[in-house]
Amino acid sequence: MTPDEFAGRRRQLMRMIGEEGIAVFPAAPIRPRNRDIDYPFRQDSDFYYLTGFEEPDAVGVLIPGRPSGEYLLFCREKDARHEAWHGAITGPEDAPSALQADDAFPIADIDDILPGLLESRSRLYVTMGQYPEFDHHLTEWLATLRDQYKSSANTPQEFVALDHLLHDMRLYKSRRELAALKRAAKVTVAAHLNAMRRVEPDWYEYRLEAEFDYAFRSANARHAYPPIVGGGANACVLHYTRNDARLNDGDLVLVDAGCELDYYAADVTRTYPVNGRFSAEQAALYNVVLAAQEAAIERLTVGRHWNEAHDAARLTVADGLHDLGIVAAADADGIDGYFMHRTGHWLGIDVHDVGDYRVGDRWRELEAGMVCTVEPGVYIEHDADVDERWRGLAVRIEDVVAVTRDEPDVLTHGLAKTVDDIEAAMRG
Ligand code: GLY
Ligand code: MN
Ligand code: MN
Repeated sequence: MTPDEFAGRRRQLMRMIGEEGIAVFPAAPIRPRNRDIDYPFRQDSDFYYLTGFEEPDAVGVLIPGRPSGEYLLFCREKDARHEAWHGAITGPEDAPSALQADDAFPIADIDDILPGLLESRSRLYVTMGQYPEFDHHLTEWLATLRDQYKSSANTPQEFVALDHLLHDMRLYKSRRELAALKRAAKVTVAAHLNAMRRVEPDWYEYRLEAEFDYAFRSANARHAYPPIVGGGANACVLHYTRNDARLNDGDLVLVDAGCELDYYAADVTRTYPVNGRFSAEQAALYNVVLAAQEAAIERLTVGRHWNEAHDAARLTVADGLHDLGIVAAADADGIDGYFMHRTGHWLGIDVHDVGDYRVGDRWRELEAGMVCTVEPGVYIEHDADVDERWRGLAVRIEDVVAVTRDEPDVLTHGLAKTVDDIEAAMRG
């Protein structure tokens, strides 16, 4: 993403906030994993979206129309000893030029500076409830404001949820964001194709997972979420991540894996036979899910509402399971035990991206630039009350789709998806 893209986002947000408002937003905290080892740092998505700045211990401030600077950044100071261990710090001296900030200050000075900035604005835009430490600081800044500054008509009287504005912006992907999502999709598709070609009976699930580790890191990407590699009935566990069982000849394997590349995610699932050949039952069930996915994708067009794709997928699954004799009636309410999740979610910087699915009491209308997954599934537990031949089968098919002015754009296209194409890909 270029600096201009981040600057454009800040301008857009500032237009919405107006000259009575001020927005304050923190970087993600560092989280300890065990003893003195931390989890790999990943910047907060909102903070990254507005700044492009990847360091912890930072707070961004937007003050629309402020003559002496609208975009201020508090960040770590340069520190040779710390940098020797942890790598370069930008520092407040270089931050303005590196990040197009109007001014930057040491994070250690925020308690002295921020209350004075808040004083001049009547509306404070902030996200509360996400980081307890930030919430605590915020209360202290407001207390300082009350104690040290004469309360004037301009002191913040109103606290507004910043995420309402910001998450609505994030829902509409720009041209550059769509390009970034396509890059993540491409790496993910290639990894799935490679994994599908290589898998063999008696591999362990983690061996298949390792193909994704290698493919993603080779592209300077990482997993956007813990990958799911479930052989046989393990695939019925929706959030299965143990990935430590043997892949048996004759079973299906469900692989849900997607990378995050330059902060943009992909989220793809394919289900295929470990030995490269679908049985008749596996193929029949697979085709029900595929038909549901196709029916859902078709409905991702401008002007339709968000839930139409889900309704279409459920009806198609209900019809299909009825045709196979798995359920007694072709009734969408009768499949809850087999298809128990939604057909998709928004996708962007977060794999389950932000943005409301409803506006008031109505489902959101789709518009160009919205990006979501389409991921119907059918899961038949090993002890389900169905004919034995269906038991323990689970299928999910997931792709990433952008709503455009024309046809839905499947960003994860090019990855074998029909029974024939998967078998052909697995042959060689
Ligand atoms: N991989 C998470 C999901 O499919 O929503
Ligand atoms: Mn997924
Ligand atoms: Mn998903």
